[in-house]
Amino acid sequence: MAKRPKAALTAKTADKHVLYEASVQCPEAEIDFVDKTFRRLRGRHAVSLREDFCGTAATACEWVRRRPSNTSVGVDLHGPTLAWGKKHHVASLSDEAKQRLTLLKADVRSPGSPAASGTDIVLAMNFSYWIFKTRQDLIGYFRSVHASLGKEGVFFLDHFGGWEAQRPQQERRKQKGFTYVWDQAEIDMISGQGTCKIHFEFKDGTRMKNAFTYSWRLWSLIEIREALVEAGFGPVTVYWEGDDGKGGGNGIFKPTKKGEACPCYVAYISAEK
Ligand SMILES: C[S@@+](CC[C@H](N)C(=O)[O-])C[C@H]1O[C@@H](n2cnc3c(N)ncnc32)[C@H](O)[C@@H]1O
Repeated sequence: MAKRPKAALTAKTADKHVLYEASVQCPEAEIDFVDKTFRRLRGRHAVSLREDFCGTAATACEWVRRRPSNTSVGVDLHGPTLAWGKKHHVASLSDEAKQRLTLLKADVRSPGSPAASGTDIVLAMNFSYWIFKTRQDLIGYFRSVHASLGKEGVFFLDHFGGWEAQRPQQERRKQKGFTYVWDQAEIDMISGQGTCKIHFEFKDGTRMKNAFTYSWRLWSLIEIREALVEAGFGPVTVYWEGDDGKGGGNGIFKPTKKGEACPCYVAYISAEK
């Protein structure tokens, strides 16, 4: 039987979490990076991982899928997003893998058991920790992560910057069936605080405006490094992305001491206990 063509996406029919994940997340690549880096730093595979600000918990699910010994905990404050993740990601795990995953509706600063001690890896990705707008709050969060890690534990974060990150602008990226719009809506040069939004546009002309809104402080990389050290972490390493030769990144992140001046970058950071 001939396959019926898929109905085109519109603002009414599309699911914002599906669009978000397709536009800005790649849990497989993220787990490839943290798995390999932990092994290089510690000489063994990590077993337990906590995904802070987990949203739909796509990465926590990828971790338990990766190896039968892996366990993960996803932590997020927002019940409906966690519920979406249960329905769309957790439900497709095997029964055995489901046993190795826990989702907690909690504040990342006080996640409670079983996420509060002895963890190999804690992740804070997609710049989510920028919701902490003062040094005190940021360092308070970093201290609680430090306390949650086991003695060989490693905290992984990401960071974006460059001069393009510092100004109001919209960036459009075509995706399959829709356009992703990253909107740096407001930036206050004195407080360093800003509002970023995600919108989605569809071929029929409809628009999902303000699908996601983030009220953030745009921390610099050096501020983050210093805050991690102040929170008690040992070596802090920045991983800079290689060049694809066409003005973009090649998806390969290597430990780097000096960051090239560039309009925009995304980097990973590891902070070792
Ligand atoms: C940008 S999303 C991150 C989603 C996903 N982890 C990713 O990498 O794309 C940020 C998430 O952080 C959650 N969040 C914000 N403040 C939080 C807090 N203090 N504790 C736990 N979750 C929080 C929000 O509910 C939201 O789901």
